[in-house]
Amino acid sequence: MMHAQIVRILKNTLLYFSLCTGPLLAADDAKLLFETRCVACHALPDPESLGEKQWLVVLKTMQKRMREKGHAELTEAEFKKIYCYLAGRGEPCSGGR
Ligand code: HEC
Repeated sequence: MMHAQIVRILKNTLLYFSLCTGPLLAADDAKLLFETRCVACHALPDPESLGEKQWLVVLKTMQKRMREKGHAELTEAEFKKIYCYLAGRGEPCSGGR
C-alpha cells in the first residue's frame, strides 16, 4: 500500500522533471550545435547580425559549402535547430519555429 504510493509519487516526479527539462535541453542543444558546427571554417557569426530570412539563405549556402568541402552536412533536425537559434537571435529555442 505505502510502497505503491511512493512509487506513484516517484513516477510523477520523474514525469514533471522530464517535462520541465525537455525544452531546456533542446535549447542548449541548438546553441551547442551552432557552436560546434559553425566554427569549423570561420569564427562564429553573431546571431544578432542578420534577420530570419537572411539566416535561412546563409544556412543553405553553408550547407552547400559543407558538402563541397567534404564536411558532414547538417541533418534536417540540426538545420532546424540552428536556424531556430539564429532566427531567434540567440534566444533559447526549442526547435521547429
Ligand atoms: C565548410 C566550411 C563552413 C562551415 C562548416 C560553415 N561555414 Fe559559414 N562560411 C564559409 C565560407 C567559405 C564563408 C565565406 C568566407 C569567410 O567568411 O570565411 C562563410 C561565410 C559565412 C558568413 C558570412 C556571410 C557569407 O555568406 O559570406 C556567415 C554569416 C556564415 N558563414 C555562417 C555560418 C553558419 C551559421 C554556419 C553553421 C551552420 C557556418 N557558417 C558553417 C564556410 C563554412
